[in-house]
Amino acid sequence: MSAADGFAATATTYDRARRGLIPCFDRFYGTAIDQLDTAGRPIRRVLDLGAGTGLLAAMVASAHPEASLVLIDEVPDMLEQSRLRLVGVDAEYVLASFADDLPAGPFDAVVSALAIHHLQDRAKQDLMCRIANVLTPGGIFVNAEQVAAATPDLDAHQIACWRRTVVASGVSADDLAAADRRMTADICAPVEAQLNWLRDAGFIDVDAPFRDGRFAVLRGRR
Ligand SMILES: C[S@@+](CC[C@H](N)C(=O)[O-])C[C@H]1O[C@@H](n2cnc3c(N)ncnc32)[C@H](O)[C@@H]1O
Repeated sequence: MSAADGFAATATTYDRARRGLIPCFDRFYGTAIDQLDTAGRPIRRVLDLGAGTGLLAAMVASAHPEASLVLIDEVPDMLEQSRLRLVGVDAEYVLASFADDLPAGPFDAVVSALAIHHLQDRAKQDLMCRIANVLTPGGIFVNAEQVAAATPDLDAHQIACWRRTVVASGVSADDLAAADRRMTADICAPVEAQLNWLRDAGFIDVDAPFRDGRFAVLRGRR
């Protein structure tokens, strides 16, 4: 199953299991939002890559109500859910793939959550370079991402630990099965590699201010 097919099939039920499937939900998304303050500038225009149902975009809008948002996703039904969620927010919705040209900058921030790991590693690196190009100087890129452990054995252990926690939290069998189907399209990369790719793309102040098993927040400043 492709990533797009997986999200199209679950767009209307996607939100209900988020907290169960992301055991560190509050610190994970909360850290991503906190990183926007490190830009040391007003956050007026923000690009959200793989916005899905608008979960992260809504948090950005709440923390920076003066910002205008541009949301990109390749799945129409996911983008439609974000449109419903963000009523009243100054937002533009772009049905596009990460392979397409990014909307013209400059953006004060580019954010993404749980989306870029669907790309092959080369495409991830290419996207990081293109993100740097649409950021204003000093602008910030924050990627709240699903990451691989350092070795395949450690990764298998990390996934087993995640599954135990998720099952114990009471996520339904249906929601876990849907997540499992979507995860067949995942191409997660280790944190260290991704931090190096950010540096290669010209980012400074590169760091991973949060990591809890499969979930990490990666950031860099142009
Ligand atoms: C797991 S969801 C995350 C949504 C949201 N950012 C959140 O935190 O809940 C990933 C989203 O990225 C989108 N996506 C994945 N690969 C993409 C690509 N190559 N181009 C555009 N969107 C993509 C999917 O359609 C999906 O809506």
